[in-house]
Amino acid sequence: MEKLEQLYEGKAKKVFKTDNPDEFIIEYKDDATAFNGEKKGSIGGKGIINNKMTAVIFTMLEEQGIKTHFIKLLSDKEQLVKAVTIFPLEVIIRNTAAGSICKRLGLTEGQKLESPIFEFCYKNDDYGDPVINDYHAIAMKLATKEEIEVIRDTTFQINDILLKYFLEKGINLIDFKIEFGKTSDGQIVLADEISPDTCRFWDVETGEKLDKDRFRRDLGNIEEAYEEMLKRIEC
Ligand code: TMP
Repeated sequence: MEKLEQLYEGKAKKVFKTDNPDEFIIEYKDDATAFNGEKKGSIGGKGIINNKMTAVIFTMLEEQGIKTHFIKLLSDKEQLVKAVTIFPLEVIIRNTAAGSICKRLGLTEGQKLESPIFEFCYKNDDYGDPVINDYHAIAMKLATKEEIEVIRDTTFQINDILLKYFLEKGINLIDFKIEFGKTSDGQIVLADEISPDTCRFWDVETGEKLDKDRFRRDLGNIEEAYEEMLKRIEC
């Protein structure tokens, strides 16, 4: 297939049309941003790692019955995906308190939550991706009630699968953000990526952070953390 015009450039990826209207090409970038784009940088090797890691995880999820947009890897930094319209929702699950919820609700980082917390954020940089609930999403026509039910059920299933998957690799899945899209024939599928950019991964033994918090908080050894995560999922 042929890579045609660029449809969209986000902070971490570019999306291209192909000669098949039902397929897009995603190109992963090394660029990294935090705090709604205020902090900018680059993480060497990130595009390659996140492309590969998303491919491995989406393939594993497909094998467990989760529908995703992933079709196949095309190169180090490119993958072929089903063309979808992304719901403007950042869908978050938190198993352990960390990041913004600590600031927002006064929780302590590392505090195990009694049960996983499901959150939606409205995906809109102009407003800083604010937390919303079902009522906002339905009223603002971001998704229907039925679509939200599918998204929520699928997200909890994904959490169950990922918690177990990462634990077997010595990783505690603290929280993650995913996105969903709709294909031209109306199917709701997992889209975007699952990588150290979009999850918090803590080593089970040492508690070491192996994710983008190393960049957000200037903790050093950023590239090494991304490489370590790829190594863990490849064995
Ligand atoms: P938060 O604690 O900053 O709200 O982040 C929750 C999870 O979502 C964490 O795993 C990082 C991920 N995340 C993104 O993927 N993109 C974002 O823009 C933000 C703010 C968080």
